[in-house]
Amino acid sequence: MSRPFFTTWSQQSSDPLFEILEGQGARFRTHEGWWLDFASLSYQANLGHGHPRMVDAIKRQAEKFCLCLPNHTYPAKENLARRLLELAPPGFDKVFFTLGGSEAVENALKIARLVTGRYKTISRYRSYHGASMGALSLSGDYRRPPLEPLLTGALHALDCHCYRCPFGKVVDSCQRECAQQFDHIMQLEGSESVAAVFCEPIPGANGVLIPPDGYWRKLREACDRHGALLVADEVLTGFGRTGRWFGIEHEQGVVPDMITMAKGLTGGYAPLGAVLVHERVSKMFNDQKLYCGLTYYGHPLSCAAGEEALAIYQEEGLIERAASLEPLLRSGLESIAAAVQGEEADVRVRGLLGAIEWRNGTEPKWASFFTTLSQQLKRERIHCYPKIDTGMMVIAPPLVIEESELREGLERVRACVVSASDHMAC
Ligand SMILES: Cc1ncc(COP(=O)(O)O)c(C=O)c1O
Repeated sequence: MSRPFFTTWSQQSSDPLFEILEGQGARFRTHEGWWLDFASLSYQANLGHGHPRMVDAIKRQAEKFCLCLPNHTYPAKENLARRLLELAPPGFDKVFFTLGGSEAVENALKIARLVTGRYKTISRYRSYHGASMGALSLSGDYRRPPLEPLLTGALHALDCHCYRCPFGKVVDSCQRECAQQFDHIMQLEGSESVAAVFCEPIPGANGVLIPPDGYWRKLREACDRHGALLVADEVLTGFGRTGRWFGIEHEQGVVPDMITMAKGLTGGYAPLGAVLVHERVSKMFNDQKLYCGLTYYGHPLSCAAGEEALAIYQEEGLIERAASLEPLLRSGLESIAAAVQGEEADVRVRGLLGAIEWRNGTEPKWASFFTTLSQQLKRERIHCYPKIDTGMMVIAPPLVIEESELREGLERVRACVVSASDHMAC
């Protein structure tokens, strides 16, 4: 019998789907048995699976009330907004709630247009900012071209990809050409035409591309020079993933104008996204209408989940935990990379977000490697993302993962890689 719902970003084949029956910490159980979650599902399960405090917080809120008008207030909404502003860099004074990451980016884009009166944006090719038409226009990866034409004026810049620098430079001697191009693009487009630059502090799903020192400072300077806003898309990097509350905290002294977030905001326990807005932007709406709104704006169940999630991150020390597990993830990935003998690779890690990129990983002989690797990982019941199209593998376990689980998981992934590389050799 055919399935009654679509599967996302895929051909509607009849491959069996996961059915998660229960979960605990870094593991979840399906009909096949217990899986080790090495991707935090889709990078949202920072708090792990089956967290009893999250379940209780949602239940408590559901027992009080679930329905609310967008412009009503109640404690969970107030408390969550205040706490988010405390966590943000200085000067942020307003939160706009959404239901997820795409809507957060979509509304940041609308705010940027309203504030600047301009419509152009610059984002990067190796990026994903969401599936709705505005957010998809900003996205640069394989999900955008099939839906074109999209928003007029959504421009794309080359990436900060030091391992394969699109400018042919090396990081020790370059002038951060990857950042300087933003200034050039803004000049060439007309200094007063770009509303905003949207970048992930570290492009995550597109390969954990860690920017070189000074990159974000140059972006900030270019935006200031041309009157454009700078938006940090923290949907994936937020809430401890990189060992700090927000990825932008690695860029000392750089304060964006807006920060978009979702996923880890509730650890995936309820749909919620947000845009944090700096007061230099938000003040315009003191006497002008904000043309943004959603029926489920600040939904009670989601806000209760968000409030509890932030308390858990702090009380369980999860942000520090992600930072402290970074060396173990790095050494594990280095050992996995080296398991494909004679093949050069780059390992990139920040907090509990890591990637291996094999130099020749997109050559045809690697197709069988990645196919076998996916099969082996399934057989081993390890959930993570080998990326056949880019010759990479991204690993991002829940922040609650035990050190022993991380170690054991990395060894099991290594064994899968060894057996896949044997396959490639034949
Ligand atoms: C950086 C980034 N922005 C936006 C989104 C879109 O978020 P959502 O899928 O919640 O709409 C994602 C999702 O993966 C993301 O990684």
